[in-house]
Amino acid sequence: MSRKVLITGATGDTGRAAVKESIDAGLHVRALVRRIDDRSDALQKLGAEIVVGDLQNVDEIRAAMEGVDAAYLVYPVAPGLITATAYFAQAAREAGVETIVNLSQRSASRTSKSPSSKDHYVAEQLLSASGLNVIHLRPTYFLEWLFYPWQLPTFLDKGVLRLPVGKGRHAAIGAEDQGRVIAALLKDPSGHIGQTYPLFGPVEMDHEQMASELSEALGREIVFEDISIDEYRQSMESVGVPAYIVEHLVAAMDDYQRGVMSGMNDNVERITGKKPMSVKEFARAHADRLNPQAV
Ligand SMILES: NC(=O)c1ccc[n+]([C@@H]2O[C@H](COP(=O)([O-])OP(=O)(O)OC[C@H]3O[C@@H](n4cnc5c(N)ncnc54)[C@H](OP(=O)(O)O)[C@@H]3O)[C@@H](O)[C@H]2O)c1
Repeated sequence: MSRKVLITGATGDTGRAAVKESIDAGLHVRALVRRIDDRSDALQKLGAEIVVGDLQNVDEIRAAMEGVDAAYLVYPVAPGLITATAYFAQAAREAGVETIVNLSQRSASRTSKSPSSKDHYVAEQLLSASGLNVIHLRPTYFLEWLFYPWQLPTFLDKGVLRLPVGKGRHAAIGAEDQGRVIAALLKDPSGHIGQTYPLFGPVEMDHEQMASELSEALGREIVFEDISIDEYRQSMESVGVPAYIVEHLVAAMDDYQRGVMSGMNDNVERITGKKPMSVKEFARAHADRLNPQAV
């Protein structure tokens, strides 16, 4: 009988990738979704068993964990991470789930000014103290930032990569590569229990270099524009981004400028046997979404 895994956030970026990669790796995948819709139908077509549940409901999570060997926990940048994590740990203990793979942040810190980074740190501690076998993932910023509705697309359409990042650097990592890491750890966690893995893309760069890679991949000029963190805050507030996300991103940009998201390692390749995607490769693969739509 194949190993059964529970993947939360299955309609989100890392969860969706983890579902696909876990099915490809021969695992029986139970995908947790909040509702049945086109996105859950697509996961079912891939071969996932779909369960509906809310991470804020311990009984629904307990039911989703029945018969599961290993589980992936991801929660959005939103209030409620600590409750969701505590319920997840409790349900896992009750159901006898052996291993938890937990998505945290590179910037997780007890003293962070970001409510999300602070909660991620506390969530890591809570899981580590739970008695379960836990592996924490601490990715730097995702390549998917290029898609986030309040971040870049309207500017990218006009050829501008506009963020308050100064000369800060990072090696952005794609959700697809994280999906492969998650699937590999769910399939065979031996040798990884108790580890905290920072995850990066293949090349660390500043945003001048990122704009140059985007220009090359998209076949049009993209120019980096540095803005103040205040201007960034105002632009998010003006389009109604939730306060928790604004507070996180404002602190995250300050962290970024101070080098908190920088760094490099070979964790993705070591765990999965394959190098992660570069900015250029990601942009080429998603040129249809990153270039303006013809009208
Ligand atoms: N983006 C970055 O650069 C970055 C960097 C480091 C770490 N992270 C961490 O990555 C995590 C987000 O991962 P992601 O990008 O894969 O997620 P995502 O694309 O934001 O998707 C979130 C998923 O969680 C589901 N969800 C939301 N609330 C839920 C609830 N109460 N119960 C059950 N499911 C719920 C969503 O379902 P619906 O779609 O139906 O709402 C969706 O499937 C955050 O914890 C963040 O701190 C992000």
